[in-house]
Amino acid sequence: MKEDFYYTQARSSGYRSRASFKLQQINKKFSLFRKGQIIIDLGASPGGWSQVASHLVGSGGKVIAIDKSYITPFKESNIEIINKDILNRNLSSLLYAKHGVIDGLISDCSPNISGDFSRDHSIQISLAKRALLLATELLKIDGFFISKLFQGSELQTFMDDLKQHFEIGKLYKPAASRKKSAEIYVVGLKYIGTLESNTKEKKE
Ligand SMILES: C[S@@+](CC[C@H](N)C(=O)[O-])C[C@H]1O[C@@H](n2cnc3c(N)ncnc32)[C@H](O)[C@@H]1O
Repeated sequence: MKEDFYYTQARSSGYRSRASFKLQQINKKFSLFRKGQIIIDLGASPGGWSQVASHLVGSGGKVIAIDKSYITPFKESNIEIINKDILNRNLSSLLYAKHGVIDGLISDCSPNISGDFSRDHSIQISLAKRALLLATELLKIDGFFISKLFQGSELQTFMDDLKQHFEIGKLYKPAASRKKSAEIYVVGLKYIGTLESNTKEKKE
């Protein structure tokens, strides 16, 4: 494939993927990251988002990079790698036991594109739903959520669901996302919590 602007920029800036710029642009638009935050990054390989998140949260913060594919260790010491499928049933309890509640959950998880749009859209929605479920189990009140989605028939239902959990739900396509791609990012700001979790001390 022809090397594009963001690909070249990523190589010259030391980022592992052109996707790094998508996260930078999402953060520029919504001002989500702060120093000291704990962030979970789903579908993190090869690691561009984790690098960006690592720099934004700084040495007092932490990024937990999760992927079912191998992730090459980072030089940034505030990134921890977990090699797991996000559909693993024990993931939430494992993460909570180790890190407690978190400030942000970001997911760039996507399937290998088959070319069958409805199949790809449907797998993408299930990955985004899984990311949203993990967010509702692990986020602090006021925490944030980002997930990749493909524009398609199930997008609106997903947004309606997201808005049950966040004060604000937005869709955003960063400039670094290829125009011809159906990819779009959903952003949830100010996690409200569920009735049950609001009563738990851990969420306060
Ligand atoms: C577009 S790449 C992510 C790029 C990454 N954000 C970056 O900046 O380098 C999508 C990733 O999702 C991962 N993925 C897809 N399904 C997954 C699953 N069920 N569990 C964990 N990772 C998954 C893939 O292995 C792939 O590495």
